[in-house]
Amino acid sequence: MESSLLFSLFLCVWALSSLTTASEATEQCPERTLGNERRRACPKKCQQDKECGNKRQCLCDGQCGLSCVAPGRTCPWPLPPGKHLDVALLSPSPSFSALLEIRCKTGYTMPNGLDVTIRRCQGDRQWSGDEPVCIAASQEDGGHAAMPVLVPEASCSLPENDLLSVQGSGAVGSTIQYKCASGYVLVGHSENMCHENQTWQYPHPICRRPSCPPPQEVDRGHLVAIQRAEYEVGDTIYYLCKKTFLLDGPNQVTCLPNGTWSAVPACRARCPVPAHRSRVIVDGVKRWPYDLTDSMVAHGENVTFFCQHPEKLCSFTATEVCVDGQLTAPSCYLDPTWLQFKLFPHRLVSEIDACDPADLQ
Ligand SMILES: *[C@@H]1O[C@H](CO)[C@@H](O)[C@H](O)[C@H]1NC(C)=O
Ligand SMILES: *[C@@H]1O[C@H](CO)[C@@H](O)[C@H](O)[C@H]1NC(C)=O
Repeated sequence: MESSLLFSLFLCVWALSSLTTASEATEQCPERTLGNERRRACPKKCQQDKECGNKRQCLCDGQCGLSCVAPGRTCPWPLPPGKHLDVALLSPSPSFSALLEIRCKTGYTMPNGLDVTIRRCQGDRQWSGDEPVCIAASQEDGGHAAMPVLVPEASCSLPENDLLSVQGSGAVGSTIQYKCASGYVLVGHSENMCHENQTWQYPHPICRRPSCPPPQEVDRGHLVAIQRAEYEVGDTIYYLCKKTFLLDGPNQVTCLPNGTWSAVPACRARCPVPAHRSRVIVDGVKRWPYDLTDSMVAHGENVTFFCQHPEKLCSFTATEVCVDGQLTAPSCYLDPTWLQFKLFPHRLVSEIDACDPADLQ
């Protein structure tokens, strides 16, 4: 017990020293020793912060020695429950240099005879040392009866990306979940599995700032925008319709935070009025079709036609709407002949009296 306490004290001092300045640490940090610890990737070796780029610092990373690490990174936490042991995080957060205490339950010890060990959160986001194993103390008591089986922890490598955080340990057979820093979108699979041969099922995803592809072209319209391959969230692009076409929908689209554009409008065609020698009601005004611009009405416009009563000499109305170039006369409508129009203009259906509502019952 005494030796285990000393051991943890040593680790604490060591962990604290790794947070001191690089020059102090140089004296206290062990030289990189490779090959005598379990398989791990040491971050880039360094002497000073400036060798490490802007997001990393030159810190003491245990047996890796002074290495470029991102101190904000975290090790897997919480850990899945272990057999016959309790795990406690000794630091406020599971970030670089945090300490983890593993204590065997009463009656169990580790293969080295101790019942407690400390693991440190390394620069590669893994806890130092091997996965601890607690075995029944009685086995140990039997002298050489049972050699503990140390299962080396096999795992897949975790991504080296400050924008991508991972939940899970990356141990063989386990799954991990990825998350991007806020303001970034994940491109790729958000979950992954570590295969037996220590390869991932999928490549790690990437985190990128959301962007929109070039917006959709609109038939019979133009985009008022600088041509770019990508647009940023919040970018706005205007649409204009070609002459005579009516914009249906908003005149602008915006790149949304999920990388899609807001609703795209359409440009709708005008409709020729299918009446020539009869007045129609457009926009509340009764008028001759040839008095309308190009004898056309705009998309969405209502056109009211005059039809003759099947038996009486009176008229009733029927309304049709222009839909993107399509406007058909109601079935009751008959366009007067040229002779009717020229010789008896006052007898045209659109000019005679309206039927009494009672006649239309
Ligand atoms: C993107 O966000 C908008 C608005 O929040 C939503 O209407 C749209 O369905 C989303 N599109 C996708 C592909 O998630
Ligand atoms: C056309 O008529 C419909 C139905 O009466 C009405 O809802 C619509 O507002 C009208 N459209 C126009 C442009 O007046």
